[in-house]
Amino acid sequence: MSGTNVANLPRVDAREKVLGATRFAADVAPNRIAHAMTVPSSLPKGRLISIDTAAARALPGVLAVLTHSDLTGVKSAGYLADGGYGFQSHQPMLSDRIVHRGEAIALVVAESLPIAIHAASLVVATYEAEPFTAMMDSPGADVQAFPSGVSIGDAGAALAGAAYTIDAEYFHPAQHQNPMELISTTAEWRNGDLFIYEGTQNSGSLKFGVARALGMEPSRVHVSSPYLGGGFGQKNSLQSQTVLVASAALAVGRAVKLVVPRAQLFHTASFRPASRHRIRLGADADGRIVAAHYSADQQNGRQDAFNAPFGEIAARLYAIADFTAEARGIRTDTQSPGFMRAPFEHPAAFAFESAVDELAYAAGRDPLAFRLANDAVSDPVTGRPFSSRHLAGCLQIGAERFGWEARQPEPRSMRAPDGTQLGLGVACGAYKASISPAIARLRVGANGTTRLSLSGHEMGQGIRTAITAALLSRLDIDPDGLSVTIGDPDAAPQHVTAGSWGTASAVPVVDLAVDRFLAAFDELRGESTVGGNLHQALQRLRRPYIEVEARHRAPGQPEVIFDRLRQGLPGAGGPDYPDFVSFSYIAHFVEVHVEAVTRRIRVPRVMSVVDCGTVMNRRTARSQMLGGVVWGIGAALREAAEIDPRYGGALNNDLAEYLVPVNADIGDIQVEFIDQPDTRLNRSGVKGLGEVAMVGVAAAIANAVFHATGIRVRDLPIRIEHLL
Ligand code: MOS
Repeated sequence: MSGTNVANLPRVDAREKVLGATRFAADVAPNRIAHAMTVPSSLPKGRLISIDTAAARALPGVLAVLTHSDLTGVKSAGYLADGGYGFQSHQPMLSDRIVHRGEAIALVVAESLPIAIHAASLVVATYEAEPFTAMMDSPGADVQAFPSGVSIGDAGAALAGAAYTIDAEYFHPAQHQNPMELISTTAEWRNGDLFIYEGTQNSGSLKFGVARALGMEPSRVHVSSPYLGGGFGQKNSLQSQTVLVASAALAVGRAVKLVVPRAQLFHTASFRPASRHRIRLGADADGRIVAAHYSADQQNGRQDAFNAPFGEIAARLYAIADFTAEARGIRTDTQSPGFMRAPFEHPAAFAFESAVDELAYAAGRDPLAFRLANDAVSDPVTGRPFSSRHLAGCLQIGAERFGWEARQPEPRSMRAPDGTQLGLGVACGAYKASISPAIARLRVGANGTTRLSLSGHEMGQGIRTAITAALLSRLDIDPDGLSVTIGDPDAAPQHVTAGSWGTASAVPVVDLAVDRFLAAFDELRGESTVGGNLHQALQRLRRPYIEVEARHRAPGQPEVIFDRLRQGLPGAGGPDYPDFVSFSYIAHFVEVHVEAVTRRIRVPRVMSVVDCGTVMNRRTARSQMLGGVVWGIGAALREAAEIDPRYGGALNNDLAEYLVPVNADIGDIQVEFIDQPDTRLNRSGVKGLGEVAMVGVAAAIANAVFHATGIRVRDLPIRIEHLL
């Protein structure tokens, strides 16, 4: 009973999106909805002395103004990495404490959004200020120890004996995700049950986190997140405003919606923290990298321990026998930083792949040949085999398509026809191949319908399309009767969709459910032959439907991992599995032009080749790749939070001043897929693509800028003034 060829299935939600029919969370508008606006703290740290809400309350149309005195009994849902559900452990408005600039001190609810905004501006607070730390190098930044990173061999001794060494420090600024869809919550109470509509990568954490915060039975909290307009890690857990909006809805007895303004998100949602990377590398006379010492400092908040495992991917890129990596947190007074697309891998690859380039020049080697000569055949950290690794293939295919051969090795030796300096750079990337536990329910009906419910969140990456393709490729069902429910913990337990494990978790569990279904169908059919599609066959066999359930988890994980899934807790496995280690790999080739007088940097072309295991869908995969490369260009040349040391917080907290690439900044981007299934990792052979796509892009650009100009820029973003 085989289905259609769906390897190039158009996005299943494309038409709806183009028509504007897709309902994102903030599009949901229950009857008599009221609108909320937060009042942000203008103080970075200290205590609220008074808060005067009288003028706000007196404004016609205002329904309520909540402050911390209205939220007695509400608790923090805890920190994601610490057994809790929130992006940080600090829940604003539970006391008079202020721990970061911009946190909510009051929530206004009104008949309309303009009234809510106006009323919020009328709330007057007085504060008792405390000294605060704005940046990593500000007074009061203290050190937080992290568990040791990587320790193999004796890096110190190997460095001392190396023929060529480099010792350099790289800086990566704080950056902020800016998904098109703002963070929002719409909450409604019906008969004592709470309904939350919020675009989240982790509807399970919302369900259980809100229940914990409000002291409710989780079964009475219902969360729906069928579509996100971008997640990127910022929406990976319970946000600050969710319980506030739920409390407000209870207080006013109506549905309440809050869309957090973009300017506030810079101070209320997680972000990529600043980091400093000192890298010492050594190579022998034959051009083999023999030693690496990688020590990093990463900005943190005061509340939580957001770890900094930069060395974990750096140690997997090459066969380096002696490798030490260590990292520390540097605590500042901000909201807790967190995961942002390739959270450790992108900064690590910028630093490490810049350093490898510097070492290649120091050793007099071609940067491409140098990388190929140092390829690893087994995992240097654990000694285990890789489940699959085609990094050399990525480099070779990329070099050929890009035309690396035409590169003249000397920096400053190439010019574009118009006289601008031309540079060609290469860099590699890797990203762990993880799998989260998943449960799928599949029901095929004689009435022409098919219902599939499973864990997953559609952020625009195309997971609905991958799921649909997996089902249609094996079952002869009516596609028009198919409904796929994801992002709904009441339909199937929901795990956070992040870490590039979405497809590698969803597709195998769908495959398993199909196996179960076909086994049940064969048993029902017995010896009889029935024609037609599965719905017609069920009709003839007089069976209204067949329903099956399947579970899938990472290799080596125990059965109890499903308990974590059922409680909305993270439970993904990898990249270290009992018998192997799994990563996706990528190679990027970049051409830059640097204008002689203005020193403006352009990126006319990029060639990226990825090894992500099976490519489930070429359209969505290509789109992921383009997005990753564009983001890498932004990270290399545009993005940075400009922190105000006097008051804390980002000064450029809007899309006018927080610079990202625009169409005019993007040239020709070519992408290629190795497309070799990794069936040791999972039956579908999928390793993951979303994050590896951007890993290494910034280094390839920095390396190309060096080749063009002879100037090694070790601070991102690379600015005109670096090249004057
Ligand atoms: Mo991603 S930063 O793991 O959503």
